[in-house]
Amino acid sequence: MLRTVLTDRFSLRAPVVGAPMAGAAGAALASAVSLAGGLGMIGVGAGTDPEWIAAAATEARAGAAERFGIGLLAWNLTRRPDQLDAALAARPTLVSVSFGDYGPALEPLHHAGIAVATQVGDVASARRALEAGVEVIVARGSEGGGHGDDRVATLPLLQGVLDAVGDHAIVLAAGGIATARGLAAVLAAGAAGAWIGTALLACAEALTPPAARLRLLSATELDTVSTPVFDIAQNIPWPPDYRGRALTNAFTGRWHGRERDLAGSTGVSRALSDAKERGDYDTAFVYAGQGVGSLSRERTAGQVIGEITQGAEALLRRW
Ligand SMILES: Cc1cc2nc3c(=O)[nH]c(=O)nc-3n(C[C@H](O)[C@H](O)[C@H](O)COP(=O)(O)O)c2cc1C
Repeated sequence: MLRTVLTDRFSLRAPVVGAPMAGAAGAALASAVSLAGGLGMIGVGAGTDPEWIAAAATEARAGAAERFGIGLLAWNLTRRPDQLDAALAARPTLVSVSFGDYGPALEPLHHAGIAVATQVGDVASARRALEAGVEVIVARGSEGGGHGDDRVATLPLLQGVLDAVGDHAIVLAAGGIATARGLAAVLAAGAAGAWIGTALLACAEALTPPAARLRLLSATELDTVSTPVFDIAQNIPWPPDYRGRALTNAFTGRWHGRERDLAGSTGVSRALSDAKERGDYDTAFVYAGQGVGSLSRERTAGQVIGEITQGAEALLRRW
């Protein structure tokens, strides 16, 4: 078994956190990851209602022997403080507050005895998170799927964050870790585990629609782009520091790099939501990271976690 400060702290059997992924990681995926020995997280999107959070938490707790996490979007909490209230009421093991000012959420979460994580995209942000008392610091590189700071790739970021934080917080690596080799690499570097999103996207338990799943399974590592175009088209007020890495398609081909024209054009938001409903992923988005190139068949979350952790253990033993 791979034992680290992460597995010790949260009584895990695998040094893996299932990333909170809005629209993909609900109760089923979170509990499957936790049952497989990792820590599964539920993703809360900008518009998610507190009732959904409460129901997902109840279902995850029932399915996962009570160990699960909830991921919130920091920038959204001033608009939607009810999401933090719902997360507090759900009493998860871990709450991540990423992308924006997590400061105001820290005190209530600590007061409730809930561990806090945040994803950082540069070394100075890791230092600030440590000073603020964040227990789990996730070095999240630009290869990662979904939203994040896309300025620095995972390896240079992880090396800098590990040097800056030392043993004073639990440091995880995120972004592009999709196989045993990736997990072995970040553990060897000194990370306490991996925070894995894309590798779980095509799992049976994910909320990913069937047509999006097919796109994920056939994409290569070249088929993603970090872009704000889907947020602009949907009028989701993500701060400009964070863009979303998604599969390239006709929509990104048309609008990526033409954000100003996109913001001024009418009917795009409607076209995008219609496409999503129809399962037309030439227009609709499939958020995924560069690790998508490693996905070739649908597996359960248990299989993914098992393959990644057992393979990493074998690789590390070889050294
Ligand atoms: C489809 C998708 C949705 C995501 N949604 C969220 C989210 O709601 N909250 C969050 O903190 N991170 C979210 N992320 C980012 C992940 O937490 C994480 O940074 C990323 O998946 C790690 O890189 P990887 O995809 O290469 O494993 C999302 C990622 C994906 C792929």
